[in-house]
Amino acid sequence: MISKIKGTYDILPEESAKWQDVEETIKNVSKLFNFKEIRTPIFEYSELFHRGVGETTDIVKKETYDFEDRGGRVVTLRPEGTAAVVRSVIENKLYASANQPLKLYYQGPMFRYERPQKGRYRQFRQFGAEALGSDSPLIDAEIINFASTLLEALRINDITIKVNSLGDASSKELYKEKLKEYLEPNIHELCPDCNRRYKENPLRVLDCKVDKDSPVLKEAPKPLDFLTEEAKFHFEQVITALDSIGLNYVIDKTLVRGLDYYTHTVFEIDANLESLGAQSTLLGGGRYNNLVESLDGPSVPAVGFAFGMERLLLALESVDKPVAEPFIHCFMIALGVDAQNDALRIVNQLRHGGLICDYDFFNKNLKGKFKQAERLNAMFLLIYGDEEASKNVINVKDTRTGEQEEVPLTNLYRYIVGHINSGGSSCGGNCSSCDEC
Ligand code: HAM
Repeated sequence: MISKIKGTYDILPEESAKWQDVEETIKNVSKLFNFKEIRTPIFEYSELFHRGVGETTDIVKKETYDFEDRGGRVVTLRPEGTAAVVRSVIENKLYASANQPLKLYYQGPMFRYERPQKGRYRQFRQFGAEALGSDSPLIDAEIINFASTLLEALRINDITIKVNSLGDASSKELYKEKLKEYLEPNIHELCPDCNRRYKENPLRVLDCKVDKDSPVLKEAPKPLDFLTEEAKFHFEQVITALDSIGLNYVIDKTLVRGLDYYTHTVFEIDANLESLGAQSTLLGGGRYNNLVESLDGPSVPAVGFAFGMERLLLALESVDKPVAEPFIHCFMIALGVDAQNDALRIVNQLRHGGLICDYDFFNKNLKGKFKQAERLNAMFLLIYGDEEASKNVINVKDTRTGEQEEVPLTNLYRYIVGHINSGGSSCGGNCSSCDEC
């Protein structure tokens, strides 16, 4: 047997409904915030992520799926969506479009060669949103609000919004310098990777998974203490906007995020739910004012976030949400060879009217057909044999009330639709005096 690749998973039919629910909510909330969908390829030239996400990040150093295609091009399965969206914005000159800021969202599979565990996979799905073209602190707050509204719409309410600021490019440079100075005498206490990281990019030491509890890191200088006046002002305005929206947040001075492109605001939202295990971070994001330019585009400020959809689904396991029983509207019980083809046509007409219908394709006996209808949780049984065919009628049994009626074929659709919400009692489409006739 060939098994699935480590760190991947199948979404089986009974799980799909939950995914569709989450996807639907995402779509609806994105509409409310007036974000439009963008779809980019699953693989890109490796250089995009090396330059975009950062050579010194764990993602690029250890986690990308890189390969050479048959034409000798070095390509990478996307580990995240932001760099790819920025590539597309530059290539398609979307930055020059009339509607600014560009408000884009995406969802789809991402790939990282990480150690798989609950909530962490090698192929996972992200939903992300990016707003490009505005450096207003209001849009930082809007993005955080968008993320939190999505969680609220999914009824994930027990969350912690953590915000911080890395400042502009010069704040970041100063901070890196100070951090390096601080780390130098203590670096022998940290792991071999940190010893390498601190030389290349000391910021990356702060998101080390091995040393995350080390006192050296806990006592390290914090970016907020090195902000320029301008950067400080930006952050204060983000905080004021979050307050006026009424969002609860904490300022987490230790938050730096693991990707190199961030400037100014960074944020993460954690869910305080058991079902998430160690992976309590649902989403992360922030401002990235220099990324577009560093990928050869014009100077375009931007801010965004992304969450792992698997983690949302895990979070939903702890949320009390009424689960709709899967059902179908009609199950056709065709009796006799002649009736069968007619029955298929009838079922198809009902489907064209939006009714979920199924059929017995195994030619089971009557008992078997009833059993199948029960398993599918059919609202109506349509019983159609040679006798019904000769009279141009069909027998309809409402499984919720047990009532059965002979209905003219020409009225079948209206009869079913009329009965779906009424839960039963009606005229069968024959009386010409009720609402349905
Ligand atoms: P990130 O923090 O690398 O940021 O990923 C965002 C979210 O993706 C995480 O909070 C987590 O929920 C999910 N995630 C990451 N890796 C895995 C994994 N191996 N398995 C399951 N879920 C995972 C970014 O990707 C940025 N592009 C976010 C952003 C958008 N910043 C600005 N715009």
